[in-house]
Amino acid sequence: MNQSDAGATQIRALVAGNWKMNGLKAALSQALAVDEQLAGAGDAINADVMICPPATMLMVLSELAGKSGLKIGGQDCHVNQAGAHTGDVSAEMLADAGASAVILGHSERRADHGETDKLVCEKVAAAHRAGLTAIVCVGETIGQRQAGLTLGVVARQLTGSLPDGVNAETVVIAYEPVWAIGTGLTPSVEDVAQVHGMIRERLVERFGEEGARMRILYGGSVKPSNAVELMGIANVNGALVGGASLLASDFLGIVDAYRG
Ligand code: 13P
Repeated sequence: MNQSDAGATQIRALVAGNWKMNGLKAALSQALAVDEQLAGAGDAINADVMICPPATMLMVLSELAGKSGLKIGGQDCHVNQAGAHTGDVSAEMLADAGASAVILGHSERRADHGETDKLVCEKVAAAHRAGLTAIVCVGETIGQRQAGLTLGVVARQLTGSLPDGVNAETVVIAYEPVWAIGTGLTPSVEDVAQVHGMIRERLVERFGEEGARMRILYGGSVKPSNAVELMGIANVNGALVGGASLLASDFLGIVDAYRG
């Protein structure tokens, strides 16, 4: 299992590490070790690999990590290009610092900053304005899952968070059940397959052939020990990894699920 299947469409996987608010200068060595090992692995890894460090580390990481095709991403962006928005970072700034993508609508931003689907949708447009791929996160809370609302919640987030006219190069979806993030818990294989299958159907309905090619990542307590099983599920086209992306050895252990 190296590449995931969406019907007849082969999709190149993406394994992205979301460092969240972690990473001082000393952590650069972990990212550079990933770069080094990937360069050594050459074509053996059938996936794109990305690290999304805190904004403070973006530029230095993108300047130093040039050995492999390691991609660099941001974790959020403002809707506007520039202006009086103290503490915010624009999509253009991320691109200028060397990012090729940005995570948007992560549940931590939806919870901590009250981000709505509408705002996430505007941020996706901002990312595209700057030439960045948007990694758009969706996922239910434990209460919503227990109430049987998962598919409806995720479908609504998906519809509301995506502008019209996006394509498989400009958008990646990440399904991250909120209750699986940082908890060590993961949904069953059947549950992941059900949600990813629904997401695929909705993407195809709305975006046609592009929707069939879009990557749908799974995120939430992905580790080296469960990566092969999770990445083998239909319509799972890679992973969005939090805690286990902070150590090169753990992250590479997950990337290894895509070793040919
Ligand atoms: P964990 O891998 O730490 O559960 O975090 C997942 C996540 O939120 C990635 O965006």
